[in-house]
Amino acid sequence: MKKQLFIFLFIGICIAAKAQTVTYTETVAPIIYNKCSSCHHAGGIAPMAFTNYSEAKKYAGMITMAALDPKNKFMPPWMPDTAYSHFADERTLTLTETEAIKKWIADGMPQGNPAAEPELPLYPKGSQLGKPDLTVSMAESFTHTGNNKDEYRVFVLPTHLTEGHNVKAIEIVPGNPKIAHHIILGLDTTRMADQLDAKDEAYGYEQYSGFGFYPTYDNWSGWVPGNKARFFPQGISNYMLPNSKVLLQMHYGPSPIDAKDSTTVNIFYNDKSADRFIKGWVISPNDIKDGPFYIPANTKRTFHAQFKVTSDYSLISVTPHAHWLGKQWEVYAVHPNGDTTHLIRVNDWDFNWQNFFSFKKFIKLEKGTIIYCNATYDNTEKNYRNPNRPLKNVAWGESAKDEMFLFYFSYVPYKTGDENVEIGGSVNYLNPVYDAAAKKIRIDYSTTDNSGVNLKLCDDKGKTVALALNNERVESGRHQSEIDTKTLKSGIYWCKYSTGSYTDSKKIVIE
Ligand code: HEC
Repeated sequence: MKKQLFIFLFIGICIAAKAQTVTYTETVAPIIYNKCSSCHHAGGIAPMAFTNYSEAKKYAGMITMAALDPKNKFMPPWMPDTAYSHFADERTLTLTETEAIKKWIADGMPQGNPAAEPELPLYPKGSQLGKPDLTVSMAESFTHTGNNKDEYRVFVLPTHLTEGHNVKAIEIVPGNPKIAHHIILGLDTTRMADQLDAKDEAYGYEQYSGFGFYPTYDNWSGWVPGNKARFFPQGISNYMLPNSKVLLQMHYGPSPIDAKDSTTVNIFYNDKSADRFIKGWVISPNDIKDGPFYIPANTKRTFHAQFKVTSDYSLISVTPHAHWLGKQWEVYAVHPNGDTTHLIRVNDWDFNWQNFFSFKKFIKLEKGTIIYCNATYDNTEKNYRNPNRPLKNVAWGESAKDEMFLFYFSYVPYKTGDENVEIGGSVNYLNPVYDAAAKKIRIDYSTTDNSGVNLKLCDDKGKTVALALNNERVESGRHQSEIDTKTLKSGIYWCKYSTGSYTDSKKIVIE
């Protein structure tokens, strides 16, 4: 009797342990494909690809070091502190995801059923958003020298537009993602950039930060790897000035070999339904209460700025900007009723990953709200990014060895109900349900892209047996689709879903 009990217990434990084994195809692949592969794929910016089982297995040690170990993890790159505030397209591993990958490695990295593996997200060349109304391109390709050094250059792109247009999306398509580290767009009607361009012999002109002057819009749009272009919410527009030129500020990362780039900008018009225009503002050293903005050698300094909101705003995005001495940012809004909204905190500022950070929903800032913007700079030896050796006193300037304090934000005038508007889709999910009576699989899915979507059913060998969407363009948001299962044998199937930045695979049992 006792022996039998023991055997049952033993079998029970074995089944439980087996059930809990984490496999690559079912658990780890979706995490890696959704959180890492946008940069870690062939032709992406990262040095190695994580796009299949053997690659993930081969690099498991490095993945642990770079993304799982709480002491030194720096992947995926994401500067804002997620304990402070949240943004759209947040690129962080959740605790559950981290634990799942750790357990998979501890379990000996089993592959699991290959048929269960989700497909890679689609990485289309060209536009993710469809057919642009205007494509503005570099006039010639630029060769970034293979000397393992960063290079910062501004290119002046003519639009040949004599009239203005409302714009519903601005999409930057880097010509060479291997070297494109970050990109900032300006829009200009002053022609100052042409003069700077003329002075520099090669195509474009060298400029570390900004454009070397103040263009009409100096923070029109931007890109870092992993960024995704979006349509603005219904009725909201940016503006393309007549007779303007697009200024493309490229940061090329170090490369061991000469590499060519020809980046393009796609513009989508919104000439019919615009009723509100995106506005921008920048909190600058003029707003600092404990200036002047000056960081003597061997000091750490925090500057505190304030900005008072003058009418009701719906905040869309924020963009802090500093160079290599910048260390921390903390920005929050205190509303007239005394409530505080956290906007962004950065604990380890990295010039390389500066970006637009868009909120998931509009944030209402009533007239009279005060934005408190604090930034800390470290001009000591301890700051390993400090570009000045020996140390020197640092003041405002556009070179890598000078500093900046700029906090851009974009907003539209507030309209009732804005708090509930999801600015860029909501979440990605796939939820297929088999309806035995109707002999159908009903599929709820949601996308935060506006890209092509694949949605299909595969059998337990991985062969496609039904295709619901074959790279069809779907607007961001929640959708439904159906797959007829009348002709399918009973058994195990896999519903597979992939978009421009997301992938998933769910098991379905057909009786
Ligand atoms: C937004 C782009 C991006 C994403 C997303 C991303 N990486 Fe990276 N990764 C890079 C770049 C770029 C490098 C090269 C080193 C650098 O420049 O920081 C890199 C380097 C690495 C390295 C090598 C580190 C070393 O010491 O050489 C590992 C390992 C890594 N990433 C793991 C991951 C994992 C795991 C994920 C997902 C959880 C991920 N990365 C997501 C861009 C990215």
